Amino acid sequence: MSLATRYMGLDLANPVIVSSSGLTGSVEGIVRCAEAGAGAIVVKSLYEEQIHAEAEAVLERSHLPTGYPEGRDHLELYSREEAFERYLTLIREAKEAVSIPVIASVHCVSASGWTEYTRRIQAAGADALELNVFVLPMDIEREPRAYEKLYLDLVEGVRQNVSVPLALKIGPYFSGLAHTALALSRRVDALVLFNRFYRLDIDIEELRVVPAEPFSDPQECVIPMRWIAILAGQIECDLAATTGVHDGAGVVKQLLAGATAVQVCSTLYRHQDIGYVRTILDEVTDWMARHGFRRVADFRGLLSQAKNSDPEAFERVQFMRETAARGLMSS
Ligand SMILES: Cc1cc2nc3c(=O)[nH]c(=O)nc-3n(C[C@H](O)[C@H](O)[C@H](O)COP(=O)(O)O)c2cc1C
Repeated sequence: MSLATRYMGLDLANPVIVSSSGLTGSVEGIVRCAEAGAGAIVVKSLYEEQIHAEAEAVLERSHLPTGYPEGRDHLELYSREEAFERYLTLIREAKEAVSIPVIASVHCVSASGWTEYTRRIQAAGADALELNVFVLPMDIEREPRAYEKLYLDLVEGVRQNVSVPLALKIGPYFSGLAHTALALSRRVDALVLFNRFYRLDIDIEELRVVPAEPFSDPQECVIPMRWIAILAGQIECDLAATTGVHDGAGVVKQLLAGATAVQVCSTLYRHQDIGYVRTILDEVTDWMARHGFRRVADFRGLLSQAKNSDPEAFERVQFMRETAARGLMSS
């Protein structure tokens, strides 16, 4: 039996990838992922904003007089360079330490950041790049198309600068998700659906806004699963699932929907054990044995909308028919 997978042109021993997070923010963490059997890892994102913030903090601490702009510029540039170099070192050391593919992740705020950082990350030896992009579409004056164009332009800009495989990790907040996904799929090698961004909650006793639970629960996996099932076979790049995949069953569901790779994160935090990847892989293998599948390709996409005997299942959004059919309406 083989779990071998080809994701964005990269050969993976299996489709389970440890997603970008603190788990993959150090060489030690990355080595642990590889030892646990992960097919690949996505390194913790490099955030351009963070680099700027660090450089500003250094400037503040330096007490350089504001009337000395060259000195301030030089120090800021030096600090930025140093912060960026730390990320490049992480990529280089990770590449030396493990033999599984190392996918770098980057989130920039400026056009120059996207092009310069991605080019230099590729030069540091990353096997592929995952662009972690999210613009909260909250500007009431801005047309949906303007938001979509932003993603398309960004990906095109990066594509011109790098030749390694390119993945784009996005959220679900698009007015025309299927259409946008198709356009994006012509410019990248994989779409990663869906990032689970930082969430807010409200503390009703303290009457203030607070950070929400950072980790997903397994029920959340049905959201990327549905969209992967709808898009599989219709778009022109690979699909990877992220959010809510907590066990082997979660991985199998995403593969049946049509994902090529499946990313895990919260479950490893919740188990406080990166080694839990091994359990997930064992569960996938057991399931394949029970169902007589020898290779992932034998069942990938089997329940995608295109291949499903009940394609309308993916279009149902109201409870009416289900509840009526089960006789729940009269109860
Ligand atoms: C503590 C933490 C840090 C994360 N950092 C990043 C990051 O740097 N870049 C990124 O693209 N996603 C990041 N994520 C999102 C995860 O990669 C993942 O997409 C998300 O948690 C949903 O998957 P899950 O349900 O398996 O946790 C982070 C998530 C957590 C919980």
